[in-house]
Amino acid sequence: MRALLALLAAVIVTACGSPSPTFHQDVRPILEGRCVNCHVQGGVAPFALDSYAAAKAVGAAVVDSTQKGRMPPWLATGNDVGGFLRDPSLSAEQKEVLAKWVAGGMPEGDAKRPGAVLEPVAGGLARVDLTLSMPEAYTPRTLPDDYRCFVLRWPKTTPTYVTGVNGVPGNSKIVHHVALYLVEGEAAKFPPQWDAEDQVPGYECFGGPFGNRPQQFPVKLLTAWLPGYQGQTFPRGGGVLIPPGSTVVLQMHYSTLEGAPGPDQTAMQFSLADSVPRTLAYQPFLKFDWVAGMMPIPAQATEVVHEHRADPRSNFGLLGSPLNTTGGFNLEAVMFHMHTKGRRGELWLHKADKTRLKVLEIPRWDFHWQQEYQLAQPVRFSPGDELRVRCVFDNVEPGAKASNWGENSDEEMCVANILSSE
Ligand code: HEC
Repeated sequence: MRALLALLAAVIVTACGSPSPTFHQDVRPILEGRCVNCHVQGGVAPFALDSYAAAKAVGAAVVDSTQKGRMPPWLATGNDVGGFLRDPSLSAEQKEVLAKWVAGGMPEGDAKRPGAVLEPVAGGLARVDLTLSMPEAYTPRTLPDDYRCFVLRWPKTTPTYVTGVNGVPGNSKIVHHVALYLVEGEAAKFPPQWDAEDQVPGYECFGGPFGNRPQQFPVKLLTAWLPGYQGQTFPRGGGVLIPPGSTVVLQMHYSTLEGAPGPDQTAMQFSLADSVPRTLAYQPFLKFDWVAGMMPIPAQATEVVHEHRADPRSNFGLLGSPLNTTGGFNLEAVMFHMHTKGRRGELWLHKADKTRLKVLEIPRWDFHWQQEYQLAQPVRFSPGDELRVRCVFDNVEPGAKASNWGENSDEEMCVANILSSE
């Protein structure tokens, strides 16, 4: 009798258990909202996820990549300051829908009644006021990763604010990520010289717009852009001031792992304004001793920690910040920078009253997915507070030698670039 009851119970549970999610009703809304911007024919990702057949072919991989948080690419976990704008991460429920769909045999459902697509997270640019293109097409020569800088001459003759940036990749199969740097004043002449010295379009550069050249001057990050993320508008109406006569350096990372090397001529689109409610500037937070060669990473070592806690404002001044931070400043967004030995990165705000707030944590650093993490609300740094940046490195590649700070790909960096306002 007891066995019969158990059997009955099992039958009832099965009959009433929630039916498997279907592709068109449950899965497609997630894929179209969070994946298809990259996973489309001709897109940056290696395969499409834009049809039932395409998604079914890689169902198990979709579950693995989303459960483990590799996809969609977003390296940050939660923080203590209200989260981020435009966070594309899937919720636990959305991940569960994908897992149940695959476990349930990947039923197609009714194509005539598709579920509502998730709201896109990237808003795109409200307006395109200026488009600057690479002067010539370039075909990557260093495989599989080619880091190449191109000079974009800033055409405006009056001070102008950039309020948003979008990229238009010339060859989506190989454009992996893009960083834009601002070189102002006297130094603005160097990148065009380096370009002219190199016979091939652009010039080689890995860590930043100098490459490994001896000239060093304050580098100003303007922003970063990843294919697939349509247009990045700076938070809260802010803008970065570009003085006339500046050079904008476009650092392209080409990856030929997914596409054969072919010519690319990427263009960048800008939204501009003559005035903005708040001036923004990226200010790099790092320890100057590191740059002087005091960031040793021994050969074959793991879990090498370099950490720095300080009031960053005097360093910001030395590095040419346009902001007056005497009364403190707002953290608006953070872009972390390490090279390929980086494993984890963190930025903390230590308030004068001893509270500690996590601003950004990247538990699995990936050099290939560097992006701007915009804070949902600005976070105030007041006099008396300190920031702490923490980088953890592994140096265990076969044959890896002792490493230290530097611009080359086998050298390292540890920088929290902080998009700030007054
Ligand atoms: C910003 C572009 C982008 C978005 C958005 C994106 N992908 Fe990807 N995806 C890639 C690229 C590029 C690769 C190739 C591997 C790499 O470069 O990391 C990839 C690789 C993959 C892989 C194979 C490698 C792995 O890590 O498992 C899977 C599976 C995958 N993506 C699933 C998804 C799913 C599911 C989504 C949405 C929830 C998504 N991707 C969103 C760009 C993207």
